[in-house]
Formats: sequence, C-alpha cells, structure tokens
Amino acid sequence: MSVRRLAEKQPPSFAFTPANLEWAKAQIGKYPPGRRQSAVIPILWRAQEQSGGWLPQKAIEAVADMLGMAKIRVLEVATFYTMFNLSPVGRFHVQLCGTTPCMLRGADELKKVCKRLIGEQDRVAADGMFSWTEVECLGACVNAPMVQINYDYYEDLTPETLTHVLNDLAAGRKPKPGPQIERQCSAPVGGETTLTDPSIYAGRGKPAPSGEAANVHEAAVPKAPIADATDPKRR
Ligand code: FES
Repeated sequence: MSVRRLAEKQPPSFAFTPANLEWAKAQIGKYPPGRRQSAVIPILWRAQEQSGGWLPQKAIEAVADMLGMAKIRVLEVATFYTMFNLSPVGRFHVQLCGTTPCMLRGADELKKVCKRLIGEQDRVAADGMFSWTEVECLGACVNAPMVQINYDYYEDLTPETLTHVLNDLAAGRKPKPGPQIERQCSAPVGGETTLTDPSIYAGRGKPAPSGEAANVHEAAVPKAPIADATDPKRR
C-alpha cells in the first residue's frame, strides 16, 4: 500500500451545504453529551461525498471544528482508513484489495489491468472517468480476488472479467456486482458441498405427525430429559 498524504493541490475553503449541516448535527445528536467525536466517521464520509469523492484538508479541518477535536486527530482518522480518499478520484474509483488472500488468488494480475486501462495508481485518468488504488482487506476474502468500485463489490475476478467490468462502466453500462463467476454470493463454487442428502429434508414444511420431530434441526438434536430442579442429586 502506498503512503497516504494529503493532495498537494487543495481547494481554499470548505463548508457543508445547509442540508448536510443539518444531517451532521443529527448524527452528533445520536451520541451522549461530551461524546460528539464519535460522529467523526459518518461526518467525514458526508464531507467526502459533498466534495466529489475525496477529502480536502479544509473539509477535515471543518469536521474537527464541528466536533471540537484537534485537527490532527481527525487527520489521523482520515489517513488511517482507505475509505477516505485524500486526493481527487475518478467518476469510478477502483479500490483493489492486495491483501494476502486476494494476492494469492491473482490480485497482482488485476493491478496490471488497472495500470493498463486506467494508469498509475492514485492518479485520475485523463478523461476523469477512472482512478484506482490498492487497499487492504475489504472483507470479501472468500470471493478473492476482488475490487470495490464506488459502492459495489466485484468478486472472483480474473484479468478478463475485470477488463469486462471496467469496459462496461466506461461504456455507460452497469455490470452486475458480486461474484463474476457462477456462484451464489460466497457459497461454494460448483454448488452445495454439505447437507446435500435429500433425506434430511424429508417432510420439511409439512406438519409433523404427532410424536415426530417438526424439522430437521429438531430431529438432529437429542432431547435431554427435563431436569428436576428439586432433585437433590443436582445440588
Ligand atoms: S484479502 Fe481481499 S477481501 Fe480480504
């Protein structure tokens, strides 16, 4: 991962829009008196959205003032979390996970695709459409390798499928988020591998005859005798 620094070129000022200011005050109101700093992440996020997808220094300072925090404390939050962009991003910002599971499953090849189709990391492409950056684990390791583009995850990628996704976005199409192979969410590739015996589902959904287990879960759990709290042997 690259070093995270504030952009060299910065806008001269930042002020929340009236609607965002009201929203920010509502966030602060969710916390007890004296704990307004707890709202720092959602308010930074709203500042980033208002600024076109990145956090100028003046926005970080405005959030610090609003929450009564030292500016360095808010800067620490903004520089720690890669969800906060410290320099301008493209209309489609690709966060490419390079952590171990994704790296072992081909993240380096995906990086080459980003370099070829978008350009250097942390730079906005000339047409303003794309930017990319490498980030740490995004919590979709089962579907490695993966990227996040704006608010969507694209998973189980290959260089070909990532190219397809980027080309679709560039052409104004909306690629399907989630796994880019035939699998349901993070279920096993190729279908179920456990609980596949149809007999364990026999009668499921029908009223159980009296004396029989109502469902498979109940059938699997042996019934313990109901303990007698007054039994002296239990004491
Ligand atoms: S390692 Fe890539 S999502 Fe977790």
